[in-house]
Amino acid sequence: MVKICCIGAGYVGGPTMAVIALKCPEIEVVVVDIAAPRINAWNSDHLPIYEPGLDDVVKQCRGKNLFFSIDVEKHVAEADIVFVSVNTPTKTQGLGAGKAADLTYWESAARMIADVSKTDKIVVEKSTVPVKTAEAIERILTHNRKGINFTILSNPEFLAEGTAIADLFKPDRVLIGGRETPEGQKAIQALKNVYAHWVPVDRILCTNLWSAELSKLAANAFLAQRISSVNAMSALCEATGADVSQVSHSIGTDSRIGPKFLNASVGFGGSCFQKDILNLVYICECNGLPEVANYWKQVIKVNDYQKNRFVNRVVSSMFNTVSGKKIAILGFAFKKDTGDTRETPAIDVCKGLLGDKAKLSIYDPQVSEDQITRDLAMKKFDWDHPAHLQPLSPTSNKQVSVVWDAYEAIKDAHGICIMTEWDEFKNLDYKKVHDSMQKPAFVFDGRNVVDVNKLREIGFIVYSIGKPLDPWLKDMPAVA
Ligand code: NAD
Ligand code: UDX
Repeated sequence: MVKICCIGAGYVGGPTMAVIALKCPEIEVVVVDIAAPRINAWNSDHLPIYEPGLDDVVKQCRGKNLFFSIDVEKHVAEADIVFVSVNTPTKTQGLGAGKAADLTYWESAARMIADVSKTDKIVVEKSTVPVKTAEAIERILTHNRKGINFTILSNPEFLAEGTAIADLFKPDRVLIGGRETPEGQKAIQALKNVYAHWVPVDRILCTNLWSAELSKLAANAFLAQRISSVNAMSALCEATGADVSQVSHSIGTDSRIGPKFLNASVGFGGSCFQKDILNLVYICECNGLPEVANYWKQVIKVNDYQKNRFVNRVVSSMFNTVSGKKIAILGFAFKKDTGDTRETPAIDVCKGLLGDKAKLSIYDPQVSEDQITRDLAMKKFDWDHPAHLQPLSPTSNKQVSVVWDAYEAIKDAHGICIMTEWDEFKNLDYKKVHDSMQKPAFVFDGRNVVDVNKLREIGFIVYSIGKPLDPWLKDMPAVA
């Protein structure tokens, strides 16, 4: 029986290993983590992450061939294949701070693998890492453990949160990179055999190590670049009277461009895009390619511009001040169908409005008050360093309240900001909402989910990203 151990029971490690266990009943899969609360949650009825379909998969195999444990060393020692799916956050201090990937967690996992191993192992990079990380890891492993063969593979993960289980069941592709040596090719084949249980072999792409590592950064950069492109267009649409949804549809029907990932928004969020592009920028700079670095940096700059633009629009529309005004924030997660708030644009928008002394009432169906308070108190880039290592932030902030109902968040508010495209925000009773608000009642839709015309008929002043401006907003000072 092949034994797999995955270090890191997070958004990637948990769902990925659960699906491998489900599809490969003869393989024993153990997911280990240093965070005991996370492991306890994986072993309970309340999994630590919200992901549609995940509960069902875990229930089917947990206790049979899927296990979650804090006994990291034991399970690593027993495994034939060790996946490493730990955090690779942006460095917060020292060389490359604010750009380079912090490989502290990766390196400590690698050193531990070297320490406890007594048999040969395939070590799989599941985390997103800078190009050439495999080489560094190989050195750590081989220099610390003579006589044991470690073969490194790169197997980056392409799942998106909110659709992780569907993505894992039917991936566009699985990418495996390895050394072009007999041992490297043998290891690739071993991992290919695992995925071939359910992924058609023509969708399992095999490359060299460096191509696999770079492909992951490149894929995220290309995806984020599409969003920044359409968001840049959204600003121009507002200035000219064009409608960004119509523009997206028109360009997306060109088969060379394609329709996906062209939804204008308040900005992209999530744990990957910004971090991975900054990492790419740093790698370009280190390789003496400043023009390439600057090109990708622009994707982040436009994303920051979009978030600032949204805040400026809210403030300028409401008579140039939101001081003391109640603003309802609908949605805090970085996208629907997840409770994940890492790099969510809601954080920057809330901080911007708090800077102008607004009073915020926040509602998200999947995000707790504790998480929101923590996020609003955290410094840039601190979020991706394992939560159990972070001090708890202060819990009282009189400018912010967190509630468990959209209507309660909205009651007596001067304005509503829609930050996440949860389906329930499309279907609110907007007549009732309007009646319960201060007048004039504003809606700022950062996800283009509301029916703008219907809301204007009810009496709202509506701003929706990239849509023709409300006559009210046209008369307000220009937004930079
Ligand atoms: P996460 O924070 O949810 O999980 C990482 C886990 O690793 C944490 O639970 C942490 O406690 C644990 N950990 C850290 N150091 C450890 C150690 N030495 N030993 C044991 N456990 C340790 O992160 P994630 O979202 O699952 O991302 C993991 C990696 O996958 C990152 O490199 C990320 O860029 C990449 N990735 C993430 C996504 C995504 O959608 N979240 C998608 C593709 C790739
Ligand atoms: C992303 C990649 O899609 C995935 O392949 C990779 O493995 C991890 O990073 P994720 O961050 O989970 O996945 O979600 P994604 O669906 O890519 O959305 C990222 C952000 O972009 C979200 O804030 C989302 O709301 C935003 N977005 C997405 C837009 O603003 N417009 C779009 O058209 C698509």
